[in-house]
Amino acid sequence: MPRHLMNPLDFSVEELEELFDLANDIEANPKKYEDACKRKKLATCFYEPSTRTRLSFEAAMLNLGGEVLGFSDAASSSAAKGESVSDTIRVISCYADICAMRHPKEGAAYVAAAKSLIPVINAGDGGHQHPTQTLTDLLTIRSLKGRLGNFTIGLCGDLKFGRTVHSLINALSRYENVKFIFISPEELKVPDYITDMLNEKNIEYREVIRLEDTIGELDILYMTRVQRERFFNEEDYIRLKDFYILTKSKMEQAKEDMMILHPLPRVNEISVEIDDDPRAAYFKQAAYGVYVRMALILTLLGIKM
Ligand code: CP
Repeated sequence: MPRHLMNPLDFSVEELEELFDLANDIEANPKKYEDACKRKKLATCFYEPSTRTRLSFEAAMLNLGGEVLGFSDAASSSAAKGESVSDTIRVISCYADICAMRHPKEGAAYVAAAKSLIPVINAGDGGHQHPTQTLTDLLTIRSLKGRLGNFTIGLCGDLKFGRTVHSLINALSRYENVKFIFISPEELKVPDYITDMLNEKNIEYREVIRLEDTIGELDILYMTRVQRERFFNEEDYIRLKDFYILTKSKMEQAKEDMMILHPLPRVNEISVEIDDDPRAAYFKQAAYGVYVRMALILTLLGIKM
């Protein structure tokens, strides 16, 4: 049976350490890996828009000497004619060695994995999970802070619909002494199933509304955009979209070494004047996404170097 990645918890903490060590080795020695996936094919099946995830998967496979095929829009696939995800993945299994799938419906990648003959990677399923973004976030924190654990992280913005937030909280709940501060308007609070999990594990968290009141406590600030595509009406989106804007004046209250992360795309929630602040790590984070996806492809294909 192929091994899939649906949720960051599919890998143990020890397996993640191995994956991140491999990603760091790939970053340091790219030539060593340039033919590692020769004659292997990655299918990217994206039923929802993407820049980073799809292109970093494709760059990852190309960097490994492999090839890529796929579609970037449901309208250009036979989904537009009514084909099910189950049928599509059975067919893709005949054409490629591994598949990264993004879909607007929660659980779609799980449906695909259940029928697939090749490894399936969940590249984002609705407002549910985005495990490879979490691998990217963890690798960025580990590489730049030197540790996973012993920090206070503030997650700010749309904590209700933001799948990157849900996956990251799940993943960080397994590390020592991580304190969470959830910063959101009342309407966009983190779902109950997440706070229930934190309560069961006795993990410290607080829910607040104002970023200014808490920014000084944070070692990491994880900003997110308001997820327009998941709102039921445009009025609510317009009311909430600029609730948080990280500016230079707010950054004056932050620690000297606070790291700013954002899964991107950014809309308005981080002012562009912050981009030159040495604490802004979101573009480096996007670069780490390629190394970790290279490590993931090698791991799921069982290719040892
Ligand atoms: N972070 C992220 O998932 O970006 P894309 O939607 O551009 O893939």
